[in-house]
Amino acid sequence: MPVDILTKALFDGPETIPGWEYIKTYGPVLATLGAIKYYFRGATNTWERDLHGKVFLVTGGTSGVGAQVAYELAANGAEVILLVRSTEDIWIVDFVNDMRESTNNILIYAEECNLNSLYSIRKFATKWLDNQPPRRLDGVICCAADVIPTGVARQVTLDGIEKQLGINYFAHYHLLTLLKPSLTVQPPDRDVRVLVTTCSSQVAGTVDLEDLLWETKPYPKRSPTKVYGTSKLLLGLFAREFQKRIMEYERKDGMKCNVRINIVNPGLMRTPSTRRLIGMGSLWGLLLYLILYPIWFLFLKSARQGAQSYHFAINAPIFPKIEGGNLIQECKINTKVRSEFNDLELQEELFNKTESIINDLEKKSAIIRNSQKSKSEKAKEKKEEDQKKSDLAKQPKSTEELDFKLNQLRNDIGLGVGQVKNPDDLPLFPTEDERKVISDNKGKAKSNQKGKSKSKSKKT
Ligand SMILES: NC(=O)c1ccc[n+]([C@@H]2O[C@H](COP(=O)([O-])OP(=O)(O)OC[C@H]3O[C@@H](n4cnc5c(N)ncnc54)[C@H](OP(=O)(O)O)[C@@H]3O)[C@@H](O)[C@H]2O)c1
Repeated sequence: MPVDILTKALFDGPETIPGWEYIKTYGPVLATLGAIKYYFRGATNTWERDLHGKVFLVTGGTSGVGAQVAYELAANGAEVILLVRSTEDIWIVDFVNDMRESTNNILIYAEECNLNSLYSIRKFATKWLDNQPPRRLDGVICCAADVIPTGVARQVTLDGIEKQLGINYFAHYHLLTLLKPSLTVQPPDRDVRVLVTTCSSQVAGTVDLEDLLWETKPYPKRSPTKVYGTSKLLLGLFAREFQKRIMEYERKDGMKCNVRINIVNPGLMRTPSTRRLIGMGSLWGLLLYLILYPIWFLFLKSARQGAQSYHFAINAPIFPKIEGGNLIQECKINTKVRSEFNDLELQEELFNKTESIINDLEKKSAIIRNSQKSKSEKAKEKKEEDQKKSDLAKQPKSTEELDFKLNQLRNDIGLGVGQVKNPDDLPLFPTEDERKVISDNKGKAKSNQKGKSKSKSKKT
């Protein structure tokens, strides 16, 4: 039939094609729209590898491009651990179950790691590292981000950091640097890939080492993209420096570094964050977004199309052979980068400053948390800590703890005289030095007591 129509059109003219008038009027418009859509869908990844047995941590794996990347990882057989705000959320349970069903992969889990809190990140990382032998880790895919729409007042994380900087930059810095021992301990034949996500809006970002938390500069409520862009720029610079430091790390087995950290720019996509940004977080904005949807459909990628550069970065065989810190865009390495990406001194200074800011913030929040704890909570924690120290299955953290555990073991198996004492307890037969410390402490306690009774008598 189509051959008949085409032959007739060829010999008798195109007017013989049924509906030619419509084709003549609307055809060029449709062809142009098709070409635009095709162009803006971006490049498609062609690489694949078998991911069975491999383990990936994914932030932001519950929505948008992160969910798509997590889905593909699981569909290719990988074990995927989604780092989520809370595992108490019933929606997460459904999400994980749906994903297990649709990918036919049972190895999908969710772990709590709220990027809004440095403490939550530390708790997750500590739990992850607290394993003997170390857990397998083939990659960390960092997709989570927060974007604040125009006109919305400055928001902060639980540690008081501006939210976009806090989640997009500081949280991922904290997570990856804490996970460094887990990354570097992987066997040398393992191909470990870490991806952080950037965005074209990083061109609007600035590196102000004196005000990394954006505290002294006024918050640009009318153009929060500046802060978002800054968070993405800082994350990219961190990735470069972190790669350098990981390369410098000397493996105990003397083998070469097998960890590569790269930066992915997925391009503009129709995801919840874009909807929030265009809709400016309001109902009217959402309505406008829906009315203008054909435009977004035409010019913005779907999450699946945006995920292509991640798949390229996860699967392409070139990456273990070259140094990391590359910017990956449209399934290729983009060598046109901002000048800061070649400024090694700046990257080093940024890394160190961020580290000291995070240390300070963690100390502050620990003090606040401690002061808010009731006596019973503190006692419970102490009991748990003691329990952990005496748990023979856990790796000892100090030689005292090792002695303690060995003695406990000797007693348990009836080998006699193992003296079991908590490493924090006072010694039964103190040495000269220990005796000095004890008498110093007693002296201090006495003078404190005197001070207290003096102040009491003054009050009365
Ligand atoms: N959309 C674009 O056009 C575009 C363009 C360039 C780059 N990017 C980048 O691509 C990445 C993904 O963007 P998207 O548009 O797909 O985002 P999205 O759909 O809004 O998803 C953001 C993800 O981050 C998670 N997240 C946010 N705050 C968190 C927190 N405190 N703790 C743990 N997880 C948290 C969210 O978890 P919940 O599900 O719990 O909210 C969600 O899974 C981002 O890094 C973004 O900057 C996006």
